Amino acid sequence: MNTPLIDPFARAIRYLRVSVTDRCDFRCVYCMSENMTFLPKKDLLTLEELDRLCSTFIGLGVEKLRITGGEPLVRRGIMTFFDAMSRHLDSGALRELTLTTNGSQLAKYADDLYAAGVRRVNVSLDTLNDDKFAQITRWGRLPQVINGIDAAQKAGLRVKINTVALKGFNEDELFTLLDWCATRGMDLTFIEVMPMGDIGNEDRITQYWSLDDLRTTMAERFTLTDLPLNTGGPARYVELAETSQKVGLITPMTHNFCESCNRVRITCTGEIYTCLGQDGHSDLRGPLRASHDNAHLENAIRAAIALKPKGHDFDYSRQSVDGQVARHMSHTGG
Ligand code: GTP
Ligand code: 5AD
Ligand code: SF4
Repeated sequence: MNTPLIDPFARAIRYLRVSVTDRCDFRCVYCMSENMTFLPKKDLLTLEELDRLCSTFIGLGVEKLRITGGEPLVRRGIMTFFDAMSRHLDSGALRELTLTTNGSQLAKYADDLYAAGVRRVNVSLDTLNDDKFAQITRWGRLPQVINGIDAAQKAGLRVKINTVALKGFNEDELFTLLDWCATRGMDLTFIEVMPMGDIGNEDRITQYWSLDDLRTTMAERFTLTDLPLNTGGPARYVELAETSQKVGLITPMTHNFCESCNRVRITCTGEIYTCLGQDGHSDLRGPLRASHDNAHLENAIRAAIALKPKGHDFDYSRQSVDGQVARHMSHTGG
């Protein structure tokens, strides 16, 4: 195991999230506005540059690599990159290569992902109702995603469903989603909606359903036990005694988890964001392109990590949105 990067608050950085595109074939209402302007292709890191950057981080102690977007599977040639990253699994330097996806392209890529060494995928899915799915994603269609999930499970990938908890939207589907995931042998994680990016007319406070409330509702039907489990991400897990199902809760709003943060993010243009909830970032594309010698890049990475803030300032508690960040979630991939 390589010595990890350590931030100013003594947190070891072992988890890198890399957004390989800002584009997406959906337009989820809490994530994007209907009319998004995407980056020109020339601004993106090439697949070779992504390889060099990720490999450098792995050399600096990163053990978990998650590919995100936008929708990572819409980036042209992306399987070449997954294939290249599999060498770090083979060497033992990387413990996990994985991705977060909307599932739309999984039917096409599930087998290839498995062949590249991916064993687990997180699929974003907020409702099991066709009409509501079309409404929340604007451009998505549920059967395509269900086909993708079927293909992923058939390929041998473990699937975790990520559901953003949305008041008045999927509150009534809590038990349906739990049952559906239990029946299919999939884990389920709920996420509190965070104030990120301008999303047009949507109102964050109206959307917000706290996971404390969700938990209270779950407890009406199930006996809940907190689990010590940690998958290396921000979720905390509870077990439902009656079904042995484990449910993840990601609670940036009600219970801040920043003190145990182990991750940084790279955007598709090679910026490093050391906190999802802050605007501060540094450029790594310049140092990457300036020299073939990695020393320059490593110094830039260390300098960026030295600026990692203590945590985010998201807050809805005064019935107003505080700590909002300007960029959209798709910029840094969650
Ligand atoms: P596992 O490996 O399955 O534990 O996944 P993960 O939770 O690390 O990754 P995933 O992409 O499923 O993350 C789910 C969501 O959690 C993200 O899309 C974000 O919304 C949120 N999230 C992840 N990391 C952070 C973080 O550092 N801060 C905040 N506020 N939210 C985060
Ligand atoms: N707050 C919380 N989660 C969000 N996601 C996108 N935008 C937001 C937001 N504002 C989620 C998606 C997906 C992951 C990448 O981030 O649903 O699960
Ligand atoms: Fe696309 Fe994911 Fe954002 Fe939805 S949440 S628009 S699927 S990037």
